[in-house]
Amino acid sequence: MAGNNIHEHDLVVVGGGLAGLRAAIEAHDHGASTAVVSKVYPLRSHSVAAQGGINAALGNDPGSKGDSWEKHAFDTIKGSAYLADQDAVEILCKEAAASIYELEHWGTVFSRDSEGKLAQRPFGGAGVPRTCYAADRTGHNLLNTLFEQAYARGIKFYNEYFVTSLVVNDNKCTGSIAIDIQTGKLHGFSVKALILSTGGYGRIYERSTNSLINTADGHALAYRSGAALKDMEFVQFHPTTLYGSNILITEGARGEGAHLINSEGDRFMIKYAPEAKELAPRDIVARSITQEIEKGLGYAGEYVYLDLRPLGAEKINERLPGIRQIALDFANLDPIEEPVPVQPGQHYSMGGIAVNNEGETSIEGLLAAGECASVSVHGANRLGGNSLLEALVFGKKAGKKACCNNRQTGPLSIVKKVMDREQERLENLFSGEGDNWATLTKEMRKTVYSKFGIFRDKEKMEKGLKTIERLKDRYQNTALKYKGKTYNQALLKYLELGYMLEIAEAVAVSALERRESRGSHYRTDYPDSDDDNFLKHIILKADQKNRPAISYAPVRMGLFPVKEREY
Ligand code: FUM
Repeated sequence: MAGNNIHEHDLVVVGGGLAGLRAAIEAHDHGASTAVVSKVYPLRSHSVAAQGGINAALGNDPGSKGDSWEKHAFDTIKGSAYLADQDAVEILCKEAAASIYELEHWGTVFSRDSEGKLAQRPFGGAGVPRTCYAADRTGHNLLNTLFEQAYARGIKFYNEYFVTSLVVNDNKCTGSIAIDIQTGKLHGFSVKALILSTGGYGRIYERSTNSLINTADGHALAYRSGAALKDMEFVQFHPTTLYGSNILITEGARGEGAHLINSEGDRFMIKYAPEAKELAPRDIVARSITQEIEKGLGYAGEYVYLDLRPLGAEKINERLPGIRQIALDFANLDPIEEPVPVQPGQHYSMGGIAVNNEGETSIEGLLAAGECASVSVHGANRLGGNSLLEALVFGKKAGKKACCNNRQTGPLSIVKKVMDREQERLENLFSGEGDNWATLTKEMRKTVYSKFGIFRDKEKMEKGLKTIERLKDRYQNTALKYKGKTYNQALLKYLELGYMLEIAEAVAVSALERRESRGSHYRTDYPDSDDDNFLKHIILKADQKNRPAISYAPVRMGLFPVKEREY
């Protein structure tokens, strides 16, 4: 500590989920003094909610003999609607097996088959059973393992610290400022490098599987500092979230044999994806459910049923105990006896902070990994089981890169100056009158869900963008009434809303710009993919007025040309 609440570390990782912890461990093991700054206790990070599994071409299942990294890469690239950068996908798939074995050796208790090998289940968009799992609590297991590893190494944790800004000068990141949520005091961090691993932007939407903490913090911090965002229009809707609460009902349920049923008792996915049926990629299944509901073939105009009964009690209890408990607790029904009401809900952010294959952004010393970053291995649609893998593979790469460039910290005086500026900004939030942040948050979520959801068109999206812009203006006049220092949740919610509004605008601008349908971005006014004009990434940078300015980047092809698209 350098006095005045300024801490010095070689590396600060913002976010204590899977990507952040894997990055921190790697940096520590390469000799960097490393700290993790997290707005929640790391074990409450959203990675803990990941259910169904993590992909690697191990070929353990009788149905996946002969599986290979190339087949995994093909499925990932086809699933991405050919928008993934193929050199990044190659890294992801080649390093998958080693990443999983590493976690297994560190203590993750994966489910096993009758021969004692790691069990693998079918997942959407995968040609063969390729998804390793720990029952339906895979994220929970992996996160606990990494936290133990980080803790055992003595990595420093600043838990319940909320980052309000980065210290960036001359396109170089040398620190960050954070509120200690418990005391309300500001702290400065002086670093040689900083990694953002803050998760997705799911909570700009109503009806999301995401934790309430997924509020685009890292995206907005990077964007405000001048870093580029990439492919922000691609937002994944998980087909099966519990009707009413939108808690995730894992794709593993369909992988194990559960069926989707409409109000006429039909297994309707046979119509939409004759080969893959319930195991088509998520964008296709989510659209199919929505179409059934819109045709009047849902229940109460809101949901369809996921029928787990074909699995039988033994399989449900062994492989999906968490899902059974969720249905019992939150829908008051037992999936062994009754089908589960489900509807699509926002689940994952494919877009993110633009990074290279080692996690570097366009700002020197600022890196990103995990869901907040766009490498991009998921393109227009992520396959289930690839996000935990991305967090491990690219978290490790970012951790190594961040500590191995002979960087220096900047002068402490710069951190102090930014901290003083932040102190003044935060104090000013408590004076003045205006809208309530909670009202604005509700309006934003409703708007983003209804205008930038599963089916989009120009007219709807233009209205949505206007509303978001108006909400941004109203946000400027929002005043905070509660002045307490300790655990001031209103202050945090207010700051999170500021992050979310900027990122909601970025999603809107990118979605309007992409005049085609691809993966999760389906436009009823442009229902086809347009490879001639839009097989490219959309890049956004904040202009002088902090409005998104659009540019493009080519997709890095190389393994597989655009060809089959059917499932
Ligand atoms: O359905 C699921 O278990 C989700 C997995 C994923 O998003 O990768």
